[in-house]
Amino acid sequence: MSKIRAAITGIQGYVPDYILTNAELETMVDTNDEWITDRTGIKERRILKGENMGTSVMGIEAVKGLLQKTGTDPMEVELVICGTVTADHHFPDTANIIAHETGMKNAFTFDLSAACSGFLFSLTTATQFIESGRYKKVVVIGADKMSSIMDYTDRSTCIIFGDGAGAVLLEADNENGVIDSYLRSDGIGKEFLHQKGGGSVLPPTHETVDNKDHYIFQNGRPVFKHAVKGMSAAIKEVMNRNSLTADDIAWVVPHQANIRIIESVAKMADFPMERVMVNIHKYGNTTAGTIPLCLWEWENQLKKGDNLILTAFGGGFTWGAIYLKWAYDGKDV
Ligand code: UT7
Repeated sequence: MSKIRAAITGIQGYVPDYILTNAELETMVDTNDEWITDRTGIKERRILKGENMGTSVMGIEAVKGLLQKTGTDPMEVELVICGTVTADHHFPDTANIIAHETGMKNAFTFDLSAACSGFLFSLTTATQFIESGRYKKVVVIGADKMSSIMDYTDRSTCIIFGDGAGAVLLEADNENGVIDSYLRSDGIGKEFLHQKGGGSVLPPTHETVDNKDHYIFQNGRPVFKHAVKGMSAAIKEVMNRNSLTADDIAWVVPHQANIRIIESVAKMADFPMERVMVNIHKYGNTTAGTIPLCLWEWENQLKKGDNLILTAFGGGFTWGAIYLKWAYDGKDV
């Protein structure tokens, strides 16, 4: 009997309407379009505006579209995982809120915190439930409202991040789907990339707010170096252990943190940029949202049987790569 594989059978993304351009950022902090474009590749990012608008708002929109386009009855979905570091609340989990609002009433739900690797870690976790035969339909979401933890007076971070979400449906397939994944974590990253306040170590007080402890902190250069090393090593690892050469891969789908990181990773993995998905210029870094947003945008170019490598690196540190075979012809969607 052939192995059950967990295949992505649908993808949908959602980005908010508001576009924060480099020109607008020039009016907010001491920066300029040329620096941002040269150093990051970002031209604009989307921001979720409005009162009481959390990460779930974007996840709900993505899931609604996903269920509709795949003709999925929400009551058939058995598990929902949401990769996010900007949950609506500490609890209940954001996946729970999304499931409730989209009618997935027969599912159990949880959030997975792995920063920019959130979608990779969630997809690999979900894969186990399909491969084991335990569940038939699982929804995996990557969603972050990074603007909710952004200090818009800090030019080193506020120019990078944006808001967005993507969701995939995972189902069993005998042929295509997730073939392999290589995931890693290393606590040395905490020093360079973290959100200090708001958790159990430093609960919110007037002082933590005054100290800006609830905003993201990043020391960019070491993160940059680790990201290039981590993602290129992860790609090589999955390629080696599956006897793949660059010619066998239709697309590399990298986390969108910095165009220079993406180009360096492609170079180190000896992979041509023409087959690397890049949309960082439009959305910036949406943390767990970047990879599903790329897949969504490229969906109509993907063909059944295409070999894809997804790769990410993020806070923690967390990083890895997934090798999967795409399960349907995107042009038919
Ligand atoms: O997704 C999660 C993982 N995160 C990442 O992968 C991000 C990794 N890091 C990066 O992408 C880059 O390090 C950044 C984009 C964050 C920063 O780029 P960089 O080339 O590493 O710049 P830098 O921090 O070394 O700063 C270089 C200079 C500094 O000025 P001095 O000290 O040389 O005078 C900064 O103050 O650029 C200055 N600078 C800016 N100038 C204009 C920093 N931010 C800005 C800005 N506009 N927005």
